[in-house]
Amino acid sequence: MEGKHPGNSDQITRDYFDSLLVEMRHLDGQKPDTTLELYGEKFKTPIMMAALSHLNNICDDGMVEMAKGAVLAGVVNWAGMGDKEELERITATGAKTIKIIKPYADNELIMERIAHAKECGVLAVGMDIDHAFNGKGEYDKVLGFDMAPKSHEEIRRFAEAADLPFVVKGVLSTQDAYKCLQAGVKGIVVSHHHGIMDYAIPPLRILPEIVKVVNGQIPVFVDCGIISGMDVFKALALGATAVSAGRVIMQPLGRSGAQGVKEQVEQMNEELKGVMARTGSRDLRHIDPSVIWHK
Ligand SMILES: Cc1cc2nc3c(=O)[nH]c(=O)nc-3n(C[C@H](O)[C@H](O)[C@H](O)COP(=O)(O)O)c2cc1C
Repeated sequence: MEGKHPGNSDQITRDYFDSLLVEMRHLDGQKPDTTLELYGEKFKTPIMMAALSHLNNICDDGMVEMAKGAVLAGVVNWAGMGDKEELERITATGAKTIKIIKPYADNELIMERIAHAKECGVLAVGMDIDHAFNGKGEYDKVLGFDMAPKSHEEIRRFAEAADLPFVVKGVLSTQDAYKCLQAGVKGIVVSHHHGIMDYAIPPLRILPEIVKVVNGQIPVFVDCGIISGMDVFKALALGATAVSAGRVIMQPLGRSGAQGVKEQVEQMNEELKGVMARTGSRDLRHIDPSVIWHK
């Protein structure tokens, strides 16, 4: 159910962000460094593109334009559902891309998409496991393709076949995080897929529990509702390795293409640096969770 009502997960998530307060630490301050190291590559900021798709209605060749923006901004690009040809054009921009494949019912199709993503030279590949069911408890159908839930054994097989870091998107419980670790997954995205279900727990609320389970073994990413550098900071302080920004970059993308994406990311990164500087956080590994207070 969409729109403003008590169970709207986007609103609950926004309210949670806004309920988190930040203490300041000025003595012995240093200029902050936001460099992210991920899967053997370096990026300017922990702010990444979200796994979006079908952006042509807001911008010509929107997914490719977003990838160009990611290159300009020096950030990780993610790509959601899309055909092979589109992924080839996305990766041809030079964007270091994490390709998210749908949980197709047909595992051979998944394997084929994994192999193709690898040929395209992606940084990592993965699956949005939260798209298996529709809201009526039936298997979902997306653009005519049947979806199906995956067992952790199937995830293990995909991860093994990928021979690249395999990322699971749509983890919103410690149980799934634990199963991902068991399956050899190399990154998880704590997300409710912009409110795929009402009353979903805000990603930041459950993040510390998931981070405890993961215990530094793999990166933990977060998305949903991140619209400012302050939001990014709160996610990082609660244990995220990096975050994805989706809808907040769509308007700049529509208005000014790749340049708009770059400017939006840079603005958010400046805000992030501002908060890091005032909390004694010299780099991404030195953000003390105890700076966060609950209202
Ligand atoms: C237009 C649009 C297309 C999306 N397509 C995908 C997709 O193909 N695969 C996926 O895993 N998530 C997809 N998402 C979800 C985003 O990756 C992200 O989880 C969600 O939008 C929450 O982040 P945000 O609040 O920053 O937008 C899409 C979101 C939007 C708005």
